[in-house]
Amino acid sequence: MMVQIAPSILSADFLHLYKDVELVNAEADLFHLDVMDGTFVPNISFGFPVVEAIAREARKPLDVHLMIVHPEKYVERFAKAGADMISFHYEAAQDESDAVINLIRRFHVKAGIVINPDCPVEKIFPYLPKVDFILVMSVFAGFGGQAFIETTYGRIRAVQAELDRIGSPALIEVDGGVGPANAAALVEAGASILVAGSSVFRASDPAAAIAAMRLA
Ligand code: DX5
Ligand code: ZN
Repeated sequence: MMVQIAPSILSADFLHLYKDVELVNAEADLFHLDVMDGTFVPNISFGFPVVEAIAREARKPLDVHLMIVHPEKYVERFAKAGADMISFHYEAAQDESDAVINLIRRFHVKAGIVINPDCPVEKIFPYLPKVDFILVMSVFAGFGGQAFIETTYGRIRAVQAELDRIGSPALIEVDGGVGPANAAALVEAGASILVAGSSVFRASDPAAAIAAMRLA
């Protein structure tokens, strides 16, 4: 399985979104779009119009990471805005996680469940047979540019071990503080989708930064 690199648009220049999408359109595997509501996380990012605009220009699938309460209310609109993958936080959905996964699937969108660094990985084990991917946060959701939390490696290994045990082909995505320095170790631990915001868009050559992570 080849690693997929997903640049996070949260770190792009919002005044020149077209230019930044173009900068990585050839080299990226996915576009990672962070939707924050100011309630589930203490930050507000962007919503439907921005996702729709990026969908018009992006040549790669859109990976929408919902950091919002009541994700079930907005799945349909993000699917219609162009999402190819939608992930929601287990902490936001809890016992409704099964229903949210079913809802995402109903729109023929890949479904992912996300956990913050302080959520025991076992909490999401019941949902692993149903998801297409698991997003293991390596920072607390809410802001770009935070330092990578080292305990993430063990958490990825634990999720991968459970996926192996149940025979699931679901992919593990990792998000927060990811760059060329830790890409290889994350892939070795079991991650196959690497989200990278500042390490891509703060680099002098964003496409080269993506290529460096792929080769790491
Ligand atoms: C944080 C977001 C991330 C963020 C990553 O809540 O989920 O996707 O953009 O940014 P970096 O790569 O700078 O840590
Ligand atoms: Zn994200």
